[in-house]
Amino acid sequence: MGSGSGTGRLDGRVVIISGGARGQGEQAARLFTAEGARVVLGDLLDDEGKRLAEELGPERAVYTHLDVREEADWERMSELAVERFGKVDGLLNNAGILRFSGLTDTSLAEYRQVVDVNQVGCFLGMKTVAPHIEAAGGGTIVNTASYTALAGMAFVASYAATKAAIVGMTRVAAMELAGRGVRVNAMCPGAIDTPMTNPSQVAENGLAVDQGSQAELDALYAKVVPQGRIGRPEEVARLALFLTSDDSSYVTGQPFVVDGGWLAGVSLF
Ligand SMILES: NC(=O)c1ccc[n+]([C@@H]2O[C@H](COP(=O)([O-])OP(=O)(O)OC[C@H]3O[C@@H](n4cnc5c(N)ncnc54)[C@H](O)[C@@H]3O)[C@@H](O)[C@H]2O)c1
Repeated sequence: MGSGSGTGRLDGRVVIISGGARGQGEQAARLFTAEGARVVLGDLLDDEGKRLAEELGPERAVYTHLDVREEADWERMSELAVERFGKVDGLLNNAGILRFSGLTDTSLAEYRQVVDVNQVGCFLGMKTVAPHIEAAGGGTIVNTASYTALAGMAFVASYAATKAAIVGMTRVAAMELAGRGVRVNAMCPGAIDTPMTNPSQVAENGLAVDQGSQAELDALYAKVVPQGRIGRPEEVARLALFLTSDDSSYVTGQPFVVDGGWLAGVSLF
């Protein structure tokens, strides 16, 4: 691994990362560039995104404002990738939001907001970037779903619906794009330690329980996750690397769970 060494698993690749300013997107940007890729980061969080791109260096990274709900933003971002790095041959659809509400208490506005960001955003990313990837001679799309796409979780109806939709779209996209040289897979992370899940952010997301302290959350994960802890965003980035690199050259159309065993069964002890 290592940029410039000529031995990275993503040498020569140019990858767009949505929601690349922090959390899992940030860790993917760090790992992908360390593996030789150049990355184009897009987010609503312009200060954080610019700072990260500067840290990674102008030969390796560029940041641009992206609202995944806006088709024009996606087009601008793809053009920037081609202008700056000559092509785009990878997409990590990572941007997403989470809202906690009981099904019958979820307002239509909130439901639509989550659908717009998570589901429409993922669709627009694939629709806009896939032709560029094809033009570059093929490449990869990795969509970020969630374990809530595959198993139920109370209070996340809007979120779970969008994540199941992403898995569905991933399969269709893989079938349509295989002949055009584009592989499409989905990641289904369990609980991962990012701003989305930390206690202050969870409160903003609308979870009505007292999140108390990090210690309480740690105790919860110790009980329900067989591996006994919350996941790290670096661990999701390594799955994204596998699905973006040639290591997964015969893999397409699949959801991949990265959850410390949470979905393996019911935890009683
Ligand atoms: N953290 C977890 O436990 C977990 C579990 C399963 C799936 N996921 C998924 O992983 C992905 C990354 O989440 P994270 O945990 O790193 O959370 P995060 O909140 O740290 O990162 C999400 C990023 O997406 C950006 N974003 C939000 N709305 C956007 C928009 N309209 N346009 C552009 N960017 C936008 C945010 O600004 C943020 O930088 C999300 O799709 C999330 O649903 C997270």
